Amino acid sequence: MPDPLPPDFRWGVATSAYQIEGATTADGRGPSIWDTFTHDGDHVADGTTGDVACDHYRRYREDVALLADLGVNAYRFSLAWPRIQPSGTGVGNPDGLAFYDRLVDSLLERGIDPVATLYHWDLPLTLQAAGGWTARETAYRFADYAAIVSAALGDRVRLWITLNEPAIHTIYGHFWGMHAPGLQLFDDPFPVAHHQLLGHGLAVAALRADSAAPVAIANNYSPAWAVGPDGERGSATDEDRAAADAYDAFHNRLYTDPLLLCRYPDGLHGFSGADRLAGENDLVRPGDLATISTWLDALGVNYYNPAGIGAPSWPGPLPYDMRLIEGFPTTYFGWPVVPDGLRDLLVSLRQRYAHVLPDMYVTESGCSYEDVPGPDGIFEDEDRIAYLSGHVDAVRAAVAAGVPVRGYFVWSLLDNFEWTEGFTKRFGLVHVDFATQRRTPKASYAWYRALIRA
Ligand code: FCB
Repeated sequence: MPDPLPPDFRWGVATSAYQIEGATTADGRGPSIWDTFTHDGDHVADGTTGDVACDHYRRYREDVALLADLGVNAYRFSLAWPRIQPSGTGVGNPDGLAFYDRLVDSLLERGIDPVATLYHWDLPLTLQAAGGWTARETAYRFADYAAIVSAALGDRVRLWITLNEPAIHTIYGHFWGMHAPGLQLFDDPFPVAHHQLLGHGLAVAALRADSAAPVAIANNYSPAWAVGPDGERGSATDEDRAAADAYDAFHNRLYTDPLLLCRYPDGLHGFSGADRLAGENDLVRPGDLATISTWLDALGVNYYNPAGIGAPSWPGPLPYDMRLIEGFPTTYFGWPVVPDGLRDLLVSLRQRYAHVLPDMYVTESGCSYEDVPGPDGIFEDEDRIAYLSGHVDAVRAAVAAGVPVRGYFVWSLLDNFEWTEGFTKRFGLVHVDFATQRRTPKASYAWYRALIRA
């Protein structure tokens, strides 16, 4: 059977600034919410920070050589907002911009398309002090930042991504408080969601002012599976299914319906504060939804696993319980490995959004495993190869079914700073020894290279 993927399909890998760059005070970079969050208290499993991470800021040439050797034709990275605007406002910091200038040029020299994410959760600290994403002003500051970046790099970046996973940033950072900025807005997390979406819409226009490159957003999609207490779908009750629908509204549709359908989704009535999303008021102002639904060139899909959901067992702040899904292998993170979930997700996005769905990219897909080296020092990460190969097959199946997927980005090029897990969860195609910064490609790197070549 002929390969259904188009010849210009983008095969890439993805990273983010705080997780790899280090050099958090170099060349005028200001502090971000993740700097203080990792330094204060014990938020990170192994007590580490991103101060050094993969030292990519200094070693980016070596990392670009790894990308070139891997044979990818696209590389998704993020810009650290506090490098560009150290205090979140004002003119661009030339030294910060110069780093991304060098990075972008060295990618292009190797024939690799730069895919730049503007925001992967590292808000300048001064903006947090002014309310962060709870404040409407932050959306306008984000657009200012987008304009600076577009003027500097807009002639060479090939695909823009405004936000990374506003759902995770809202839920983990501003609801449970286990990510920066560590807020627990149980009564009203929705301003954080709305202001990110508004910032996205404003940024789309700001990017287009100086750049012809297409613009996307990278959303996290976690398909909601109603399961019974035993983790099986077959034992789910009507209450479990209602809870799964609420989860789907809160985690998935909340960040896609306004973009593509120009409205907030149904199904949020069980969440405190959600009434503020209905109609126009001091939060959702006239014109906001039109701004948010500014035409998107592409939709980025980050997929790791479905979520097992059941009816709430306690009167907590959410109208659902998370439940373990049984019957699938799991990664070192404990996440179920469900490659068909990616195919089903892509097909269901196509069904739900139909003619308004733009091209899609799988902007993150990957897994963490323990990655113990063999006696020869080689990392034979067969489980990662099986994971990725299953997910690439799922993309092929979706494309064969008529879903417009234009690229696939493995998370991640390098083992890196995995947020609250610190350095304990490795997602890289390339192993990093964090004591020496030595990079060692794993077997999955050779596998991905062969796949791209073929
Ligand atoms: C995603 C994040 C990314 C990385 C992977 C494992 O949710 O976007 O930074 O942490 O998970």
